[in-house]
Amino acid sequence: RGIMLDVSRHFYTKEEVKELLDLMALYKMNKFHWHLTDDQGWRIEIKKYPLLTKIGGKRDSTQIGNWNSNIYDGKVHEGFYTQEEIKEIIDYAAKRQITIVPEIEMPGHAQSILAAYPQLACFHKNYEVSCDWGVHKEVLCTKEGSFKLLEDVLSEVFEIFPSKYIHIGGDECPKDRWSECPVCQRNIKRLGLKDEHELQSYFIKRREAFVNAHDRQIIGWDEILEGGIAPNAVVMSWRGEAGGIKAAKMNHSVIMTPRDFCYLDYYQSEDRDNEPLAIYGYLPLDSVYSYNPTEKLTSEQGRYILGIQGNLWTEYIATPEHAEYMAYPRAIALAEVGWSRQEQKDFTDFVYRLTIQSKRLDSLNVNYAKHFLFSVKNKNDKL
Ligand code: ACM
Ligand code: ZN
Repeated sequence: RGIMLDVSRHFYTKEEVKELLDLMALYKMNKFHWHLTDDQGWRIEIKKYPLLTKIGGKRDSTQIGNWNSNIYDGKVHEGFYTQEEIKEIIDYAAKRQITIVPEIEMPGHAQSILAAYPQLACFHKNYEVSCDWGVHKEVLCTKEGSFKLLEDVLSEVFEIFPSKYIHIGGDECPKDRWSECPVCQRNIKRLGLKDEHELQSYFIKRREAFVNAHDRQIIGWDEILEGGIAPNAVVMSWRGEAGGIKAAKMNHSVIMTPRDFCYLDYYQSEDRDNEPLAIYGYLPLDSVYSYNPTEKLTSEQGRYILGIQGNLWTEYIATPEHAEYMAYPRAIALAEVGWSRQEQKDFTDFVYRLTIQSKRLDSLNVNYAKHFLFSVKNKNDKL
């Protein structure tokens, strides 16, 4: 029962992260997936590579307005956690029965690495920490230096995080640069690979071997199925359920977080003009609640579903108040999905119980979204 927070697109302080952990604990969510690195910022101190945070932890400006806008705020956005701060947060979470699973993105979503260490790109140029959203073509090259840096980074991550699982990203890695790069093309030939997808698979398998050698297990976004899945990888299914179903049928463990049921950065009301700006999708509370992660699987295959997760991507979510608004009450619906047998679920009853929870959230000063209160009044429900 997980919640992911993206602290790359917008940085959240140690105290803000703790507040989100408190809320998770209240609803018995027990895995905090911490998205610590991305094109727009590197947020974890790595002692061996100080430039990752010194350069990679800071961007000059931030895209504002719609996803395709050309408008930037012109303000520096920066921040990172020291290893001591991270240990403090891990300890804080553990006292609340929450395990923190760190994510270090590779080989895509890595432009903040290239800003600090441009020699790890296919083409050595100047790169900046990205100021805009979307999928970026500047990715890590498959040269040995990339593997070396990642091994050193992961070694420090193993020292800090006790989690059995380490998320290595793997999503949205365009192959444009690899297809033009002499080193990457030589690697494809030398390793007898068919194409760039198999090269990505090689990349992830090599990372998995390293992680497994340190008695940990990798989780990757569902793109890690492309070009052949690493033997022990857990798949996090986000583009829908197909990847998770395919992985479960191959006897791989799966975390379900299909965007149409679990992306908490989507709008929660159809009345978009009266909502804070969000990414394009639409995910109302009743859809979250309706989610059944094992519906399309046999009971044997269903055993591979480790659980479900809600994702808070923060391109458009710059403050903890806004994060609370997007996550609550939808994360409570997800908690109930994770805890309940399908036949026990009853949305009307859930909303009635939410009205009671709303008093609890009010007393904690949580900025939850209140659409459900109106739905209860309109339907003349149990209130
Ligand atoms: C993702 O939303 N790119 C995993
Ligand atoms: Zn290359």
